[in-house]
Amino acid sequence: MQELFDLTGKVALVTGATHGLGMAMAKSLAKSGATLIVNGHTPSKMDAAIKEYADEGIKAHGFLFDVTKPDEVDEKIGEIESQFGPINILVNNAGMIKRIPALEMEVDDFKQVVDVDLVSPFILSKRVGKTMKEKGGGKIINICSMMSELGRNSVSAYAAAKGGLKMLTQNLATEWAKYNIQVNGIGPGYYATDQTAPIRVDGHPFNEFIINRTPAGRWGNPEDLAGTTVFLASNASNFINGQVIYVDGGILATIGKPHGE
Ligand SMILES: NC(=O)c1ccc[n+]([C@@H]2O[C@H](COP(=O)([O-])OP(=O)(O)OC[C@H]3O[C@@H](n4cnc5c(N)ncnc54)[C@H](OP(=O)(O)O)[C@@H]3O)[C@@H](O)[C@H]2O)c1
Repeated sequence: MQELFDLTGKVALVTGATHGLGMAMAKSLAKSGATLIVNGHTPSKMDAAIKEYADEGIKAHGFLFDVTKPDEVDEKIGEIESQFGPINILVNNAGMIKRIPALEMEVDDFKQVVDVDLVSPFILSKRVGKTMKEKGGGKIINICSMMSELGRNSVSAYAAAKGGLKMLTQNLATEWAKYNIQVNGIGPGYYATDQTAPIRVDGHPFNEFIINRTPAGRWGNPEDLAGTTVFLASNASNFINGQVIYVDGGILATIGKPHGE
């Protein structure tokens, strides 16, 4: 059975993998045998990331480019292909959020979020998908969100983009299944990352909200994404097309726990 999940000989590119969830997913792919290519767009963060990967015994190859720029993407993917061979696994993880109430949000801010969270997965998938088609298949994993399903205060652009990303996932899966390319998504719930550290403290209302709203009763740890990432990147998921798997401790499955339980 282990062979089903083995990624030895595969080349995996994870965008936005200089920290956070992208880094956790990237580590899981490398630990399952894949040659790991990581993207980011800030040189200092990339340097720190490559060191962190190395500290865990992982050789990560860093490529700096802006995922929203088609020409840059084309050039860098070309470089990756000539150095490492065709990309077999693409994880579209790079993302951003702007928490601004809709009535106060500038159109340019809205467009920037949609550009990073929705248009860039299309740009990357189109470029990498072309080679996958020529080479007989591949795996694309789009990192969605609970906001692919739900609205929330102040995140109109993010919800619009992540909802769109779910539908892009379904559409690319439909178009490309015949090329043996499986396109699926992962929807993380609320995760304990550096960004959420200030609100993950006893007594903070948002911390209480997460603990009470999540059946599992806790925040997710980035490592909680490892199994689903490897599964969707491996032969174990060869007949799964166009699904988003929510790794959220059950939060989307419920209207909440009784208070204090
Ligand atoms: N954290 C959560 O609880 C949560 C929940 C649901 C979904 N998600 C989704 O999961 C993904 C990762 O989340 P995260 O919290 O780990 O995010 P994060 O810590 O903000 O990391 C985002 C990554 O994306 C990169 N990035 C942003 N814009 C880019 C661009 N234009 N070109 C290239 N790279 C770019 C960043 O690179 P630099 O380091 O160079 O800036 C960074 O590596 C996102 O798609 C997010 O929407 C997160």
